Amino acid sequence: MEESKQEKIVKMFDDIAPTYDKANRVLSMGVDIQWRKKACDETFARYKKPIDLIVDVACGTGDMMGYWDKRAKKSDIKIRKILGVDPSVGMVEVGKEKFPNFEFIISEATKLPLENESADILSISYGIRNVVKRQEAFKEFARVLKRGGYVVILEFTKDDKKGAMFGIKDFYMNRVLPKIGGFISKNKEAYEYLPNSIEGFLTSDMLQAELDAAGFTTEFSKSFSMDISTLVIAKKR
Ligand SMILES: C[S@@+](CC[C@H](N)C(=O)[O-])C[C@H]1O[C@@H](n2cnc3c(N)ncnc32)[C@H](O)[C@@H]1O
Repeated sequence: MEESKQEKIVKMFDDIAPTYDKANRVLSMGVDIQWRKKACDETFARYKKPIDLIVDVACGTGDMMGYWDKRAKKSDIKIRKILGVDPSVGMVEVGKEKFPNFEFIISEATKLPLENESADILSISYGIRNVVKRQEAFKEFARVLKRGGYVVILEFTKDDKKGAMFGIKDFYMNRVLPKIGGFISKNKEAYEYLPNSIEGFLTSDMLQAELDAAGFTTEFSKSFSMDISTLVIAKKR
């Protein structure tokens, strides 16, 4: 049951892969760019050791890998290797074309083909929501990260449905987004999945509690875009 749910999600990303970047640019209105940069900068400000490996899980078409590279160069930080991992062949094919110098591996968040304690930083941007066996993935992240390494999560989070902005957010996520995303990708179902998967996901506090249970201590957490999105940076104990 869980297996087939996960397979369906990955197939959906295979289907929308050719138009994913275009739809993302329109739907996020560019807000995610600033937060991807912030995720990198806040992490580099905390992690002062030499960086052998950054793993971007659920890397999709590779945008987060590009930001790790750019922001490191801007601050003169050397990274030996940036590796992208994603189970969708379609998404990774687009990523390889965009970033021919990066390494990509087809695999799931729960099965990272990496040695114990080999990664300095592990990021997952707008990906953890799609991982059906989330707790298993968090354990896997703790396994591959070095002690003192960081997990960096950007994700749409659920809120308490209060406040003046809720009506606007609800309208955008449930009415506007499926229409525009469906139009660009010609796959309306995939963009109806997005608001539904957020509804079924966690609040920022619940996410941090799960990370804590897997051996991480949150050092940074902030919501943005009217609290639709959250950045969490947590250190492996
Ligand atoms: C919304 S995209 C995000 C892609 C990219 N990280 C970004 O920021 O644009 C979600 C990605 O999660 C991947 N995904 C789905 N299930 C996964 C799993 N079990 N483990 C790892 N990645 C998964 C999908 O293939 C897809 O590429």
